[in-house]
Amino acid sequence: MTDEKIRSYFPQLMSERGGIRPVYLDSAATSQRPEEVIDAISSFYRNNNANPHRGTYTEAEDATAVYEKARTDTASFIGADACDIIFTRNASESINLVAYTWGMENLREGDRVVITIMEHHSNLLPWQRLCRAKGAELVYLYMNEDFEITDREIDEKVTSNTKILAFTHVSNVLGIMSPVKKLTEKAREVGAVTVVDCAQSIPHMKVDVKEMGADFIAFSAHKMFGPFGLGVLWGRNELLEEMPPFLSGGEMIEYVREQDATWAPLPAKYEAGTQDPAAAAGFSAALSFIQRIGYDEIGKREKAVYDYAVERLKDLSCVELYGPFDIERYGAIPFNVKDVHPHDTATVLSADRVCVRAGHHCAQPLLKRMGLNSCCRASFSVYNSKEDVDRLCESLLKVRSQLGLGDV
Ligand SMILES: Cc1ncc(COP(=O)(O)O)c(C=O)c1O
Repeated sequence: MTDEKIRSYFPQLMSERGGIRPVYLDSAATSQRPEEVIDAISSFYRNNNANPHRGTYTEAEDATAVYEKARTDTASFIGADACDIIFTRNASESINLVAYTWGMENLREGDRVVITIMEHHSNLLPWQRLCRAKGAELVYLYMNEDFEITDREIDEKVTSNTKILAFTHVSNVLGIMSPVKKLTEKAREVGAVTVVDCAQSIPHMKVDVKEMGADFIAFSAHKMFGPFGLGVLWGRNELLEEMPPFLSGGEMIEYVREQDATWAPLPAKYEAGTQDPAAAAGFSAALSFIQRIGYDEIGKREKAVYDYAVERLKDLSCVELYGPFDIERYGAIPFNVKDVHPHDTATVLSADRVCVRAGHHCAQPLLKRMGLNSCCRASFSVYNSKEDVDRLCESLLKVRSQLGLGDV
């Protein structure tokens, strides 16, 4: 498939301003949406608009069918059972759900929650707050100078009092993968529950819950060509069955009496209030878009562009690149233009319609560990091309001179 063909599926990537098309390098924040996802959302509001799981008239039953189809699509996409798929608003809410239900019920004073130093704040703050509430200890797995979390680090820190081991599958800053197998095996050995944040992996690679061997998996639709406002939590059935509800309200109950209530079976127990069936419709379309292109093609295209970007950026003397270059990385490249604040760099690039993120990327402890306060991040998806990388590099070459700085 040509670069133009892939790009043409995404209306916003085709929208020229002043005769220039955008170069979108912020897919780790949110991906662009293909036409068919936008159409599916709009079609829901045109044809099936009603509140799912409530009415008995045809439109309401259609809305329920659309919403539940997204659940079965999601389940088959990750090799799970539909009743173990909980729809939330985003990956953050999915992780909070586990912290405030399983965590609150099971963590005791003196227990340990272990996470990695690479975590996005969404897989850090819920555990920090839980540990504070319970008098438990939050322990970090650090990377060595080669950006590896070693077996020794894991064996030393994941101790018998570890109740939760939560880690990102792929880092949103460095694009490197956690040692999933070692971590899940170690967690099983000590009887800890594993929570894997797949927000930055599932846009790029197949995630299969059985292969991963985790207890909970979280991700967001909007980073994988789907709509905003829909997240996924998959959990091991026995755990979901025994946990209490997170949010309470309409449709998550069996019976409500004046002073107490009983809960609906899975997955409704965790889905209080009106859900978003239009987003669900869009998500079904996003999943079939990924299946049509295929992870093999996505991976091949992204790797070619990623490797090209690293080679080109390494050649720019004004650019400082962060992270390792001898291991496989996915999606994100952090960098700075020397002596320039990342927000200034992003602003100069924006004038050329090159979109990169600048800041701490919601990973302040990681950036601090890397000796940084902030940096730029170029992040890639299937629709990026080597031409996009050339446009990024051309624009980067202007940054220092536009700010009155000389060559380095
Ligand atoms: C690794 C990782 N986890 C979690 C999140 C949170 O995703 P959301 O904002 O959709 O909840 C992000 C968002 O960038 C992320 O990169």
